Amino acid sequence: MNEAALLAEARQVLQDAGIGDPLREARLLWRASFPKRYEDYDDAMAGGRIATFRDLVARRAAREPMSHLTGRRDFYEHQFEVNANVLDPRPDTESLVIAALEQPFERVLDMGTGSGCILLSLLAARPQATGVGSDLADEALVVAARNTASLELDHRTSLIVSDWYGDVEGPFDLIVSNPPYIAADEMAGLSPELSYEPRMALTDEGDGLSCYRTIAAGAPEHLNAGGWLMVEIGPTQAEAVMAMFRAAGLLNVEIRQDLDARDRVILGQKPL
Ligand SMILES: C[S@@+](CC[C@H](N)C(=O)[O-])C[C@H]1O[C@@H](n2cnc3c(N)ncnc32)[C@H](O)[C@@H]1O
Repeated sequence: MNEAALLAEARQVLQDAGIGDPLREARLLWRASFPKRYEDYDDAMAGGRIATFRDLVARRAAREPMSHLTGRRDFYEHQFEVNANVLDPRPDTESLVIAALEQPFERVLDMGTGSGCILLSLLAARPQATGVGSDLADEALVVAARNTASLELDHRTSLIVSDWYGDVEGPFDLIVSNPPYIAADEMAGLSPELSYEPRMALTDEGDGLSCYRTIAAGAPEHLNAGGWLMVEIGPTQAEAVMAMFRAAGLLNVEIRQDLDARDRVILGQKPL
C-alpha cells in the first residue's frame, strides 16, 4: 500500500469513530510513525512503521488523546512532553500564563504543576525569575522534570511533592494554579478522551470548588505584600472563587476570560 492509500484507510477508521477532523489527525499520526519520507524506508522497516501507524490509528479511534500517542503537546510558546500521568495541557490554560505575565515577579509557585507547562512557560518568559512546581502526584513530577531539562530551566526550577501548601516554603511574588475543578457528579458526562487522563488531575471528588478553598485561604501566608494569586477556573465558578479570594483578604479581585470569551482566570492581590 502506498502513503495515500494508508492515509485514506486511517481517515475512514477515525471518521467511523466520530473523530472531528479525521484527515488532519491521520496526518499527525503518520508524521509520528514515519519521521522520514515513506519512500526512504526499506521494505522491512516500512512494514514495521505501517504496523505502528495502524496501531496508533486504532488507539486514537478508541479515543486515546492525540498527545498521548505523539507524546508531545504545544502549549504557549513551547512543546511539552505529555503522558498518561499528567493532564494534557489545554489552550484555555494559556490565559492564566498571559495574565501572570502582566505582573512583575521574581519568585513564582505553581501548585498542581502536572507537566510543568504553566511554571516553565513563565520561567522561560522571565529569565531572572525562579520557581517552585508542586504536585501531589510524584509520577507527574517525573514528566515535569524532563520538561524542565529539555527547556534548560533546571537551574531556576524546584519540583516538590506537596499537598497544596503542605511542604511549600514561601514567600512568593506570584502563586498560580490550575487545580482539579470538575465536580464528581459531572465526571460521567465528559468526553471519552478524559478517561485516559489522571482522575486526580480532573476532579476534587467533591463540588469542584474544594481546591480553591484551600488555595485561597493559604495565599496570604505564602505571598509577599503586593503579590498575586491567579487560578484557572471552570466557566461557571467565577462568583464562588472571587468570594473566596475576597474572604482571604485579597484585593483587586478580577476575572479574565479565555479566547472563547468564557470566564477562565481569577486573580487577586495581597495588600501592600
Ligand atoms: C488540572 S491539573 C493541572 C496540571 C497543569 N498545571 C496544567 O495546567 O496542565 C491539576 C493538577 O493538580 C494536582 N493535584 C491534585 N490534587 C492535589 C493536591 N492535593 N496537592 C497538589 N497537587 C494536586 C494533580 O496531580 C494535577 O497535576
